[in-house]
Amino acid sequence: MNDMTTRATDTPIIELKGLYKSFNGLAVLRGVDLAVRRGSTTVVIGPSGCGKSVLLKHIVLLLRPDKGEVLFDGQVLTRLSEKELTPFRRQVGFVFQGGALFDSMSVQDNVCFPLKEHGGIPEDEQCERCRQALRMVGLDGVQQKMPEELSGGQKKRVALARAIVLRPQVILYDEPTTGLDPVRADLINELIIKLQKELSTTALVVTHDMASARKVGDRIVMLYDGRFIADAPPDQLDHADGQVVSRFVTGQADLTELEQLRLGGVEGFGDKDGGHD
Ligand SMILES: Nc1ncnc2c1ncn2[C@@H]1O[C@H](COP(=O)(O)OP(=O)(O)O)[C@@H](O)[C@H]1O
Ligand SMILES: [Mg+2]
Repeated sequence: MNDMTTRATDTPIIELKGLYKSFNGLAVLRGVDLAVRRGSTTVVIGPSGCGKSVLLKHIVLLLRPDKGEVLFDGQVLTRLSEKELTPFRRQVGFVFQGGALFDSMSVQDNVCFPLKEHGGIPEDEQCERCRQALRMVGLDGVQQKMPEELSGGQKKRVALARAIVLRPQVILYDEPTTGLDPVRADLINELIIKLQKELSTTALVVTHDMASARKVGDRIVMLYDGRFIADAPPDQLDHADGQVVSRFVTGQADLTELEQLRLGGVEGFGDKDGGHD
């Protein structure tokens, strides 16, 4: 038993090896390597459009790489068929960017969706699992509501409940705090920490909210130009090499962007026709 435990703890639960991905000639991932330790929370930061969501989708093979391998607990997923992937996908809960609940379904049906897909789980057990998942996110009781009746923060929490209903080993969060006010955002941070502790999950969190990154992450990696250019514990990120990293983590625009703003001027805004009447 000890041998098993040792092997399982030593093997990274997720490993990305030399991932490349292009879309219509645009190279998004250009040699991404990452090993994620079981039980850890890794935060992926990086500018908009740099490929963070694309990266997360590769972990569950919603996108397949042009080159490179994705491993789950030592097994190479990139060689498996869609059917063979099913048991691995069940180990991974995905909180999609924007929450992405089904608008025409009640909260209960949204949360139970993965259970129904899984098949073979009796209706009363589905209800009980739904209740447990909602309780974890502090929302037991809203089962019969429709998504439109919920606030933005509540929707994200329902999306979280849906991601944990199959008791996954790994949870992928794509910008879980985007669009929330700082208090609601912090509630999501606390939930990410709580789920990691109470369910012993491994988390991968994509965000450009640095407060959230520092709070939930035990490791922060930065994606830029198709590769990871920084990899550090939160308290050491400020000492990371390179202007790109330090400007990103302190929220400063880069010099090229500032120059474009300066050169942009105010033409078109000050003329009589465009003004107030
Ligand atoms: N399915 C797709 N087909 C074509 N281009 C895509 C697809 N998904 C993402 N892209 C492109 O890949 C780049 C990275 O996107 P994304 O991962 O969504 O960025 P972000 O870091 O903001 O999450 C963008 O230029 C985007 O337009
Ligand atoms: Mg994204």
